Amino acid sequence: EIYGKGVYLDTRQTVSTDPRLLEQQAKNALSQKSFDFVAGGAGEKATMDANRLAFRQWKLIPRMLRKMEGQNTSIELFGKKYDHPIIMAPVGVQAIFHEDRETGLAEVCAEEGLPYTMSTANTCSTEDLAAANKDGERWYQLYWPRDNEITASLLKRAKDNGFTVLMITLDAVPLAWRPADLDNGYIPFLSGVGCEVGLSDPVFRAKFEKEAGHKVEDDIPAAARMWLAETYSAPGPTWEGLEFIKKNWDGPIILKGIQHVEDAKLALEWGCDGIVVSNHGGRQVDGAIGSLEVLPEIVDAVGDKMTVLFDSGIRTGSDIIKALCLGAQAVLISRPIVYGFAIDGREGARQVIKNLLADLWLNMATAGIRNVGECNRSLIRKVQYGG
Ligand code: FNR
Repeated sequence: EIYGKGVYLDTRQTVSTDPRLLEQQAKNALSQKSFDFVAGGAGEKATMDANRLAFRQWKLIPRMLRKMEGQNTSIELFGKKYDHPIIMAPVGVQAIFHEDRETGLAEVCAEEGLPYTMSTANTCSTEDLAAANKDGERWYQLYWPRDNEITASLLKRAKDNGFTVLMITLDAVPLAWRPADLDNGYIPFLSGVGCEVGLSDPVFRAKFEKEAGHKVEDDIPAAARMWLAETYSAPGPTWEGLEFIKKNWDGPIILKGIQHVEDAKLALEWGCDGIVVSNHGGRQVDGAIGSLEVLPEIVDAVGDKMTVLFDSGIRTGSDIIKALCLGAQAVLISRPIVYGFAIDGREGARQVIKNLLADLWLNMATAGIRNVGECNRSLIRKVQYGG
């Protein structure tokens, strides 16, 4: 078996193993506005470019003749063991990509051993998602409502439905300037798509019904607008608000969207258990630094005291190893899995996950890295070719 243990090789695949072709296949499978929504970014996509450029500039330095028996990719996070250093990133509005929607993807992640992070911008309820994820590991991503009573209600539903880790996304307030969506006149939320978690929440519903004088179902767009104002509009919450969250959540709390080292330190000071170094895949601040660039300084500042996860720009197994070598404990994967999902629903997503795991395995094997613990900075260097 030249591809070794754990490697998936199936010539009947419907998804490409080449990240650029994969994106092209997703483009062919989707309407233009849905494709633009997933593939697009803020402004002139300078941050998306920076994310990829950062990965290109960091280079692995392979080791040879090492004892590779027992190679594995397992990790431990918050006291739990996982077979792979990969978590499904929170991705909202999946119904616009495939009819299998979040319930389908959550089922696949459970089967493939990946924690599934449910977005607040889900197109199904928290309860339906949990049922589909069965005995999988599920994390809850919060878009943080302004009203504490609504926040408490969302968190209670998450706890009651077996979500173990709370991930609060900080970098999507307010929603950014995204030219492709603006030109397409397409914001799925405005018609209520991706507002299901909010519109099904009893506390939000009572608030809407009191203010509007009628039921949510009688005017979904109006209810959606109120939900958007509740969760995505500026000004957003501040650090002090974390006290309320901590009182209403007893598991690990992670902040997603940290890029500045001072914010990483503040997350620690405010008692958070982890952070996701992320720039939302270049979908929020245009002209921001590539997410990988800030990872080493953040790891140096807080990495021995809290869990540091990473996303934004990962497309290959090699990218995953680079993030691990720079100190991330695990990574979140987003667009590649969504592309597979868009191409062939559950099966497409499953193939992309298996391909990524195989690519990761092979790249570790060829670079002489036996396990995640061996990933360190002696195996990576920043270079700059050309002008
Ligand atoms: C996202 N992302 C995201 N993040 C989040 O916290 N809540 C959400 O609901 C969403 N929704 C979402 C939808 C779509 C279509 C995309 C592409 C992304 C951001 C996501 O979790 C992750 O941070 C980035 O996608 C990582 O960048 P790459 O790897 O996709 O470049």
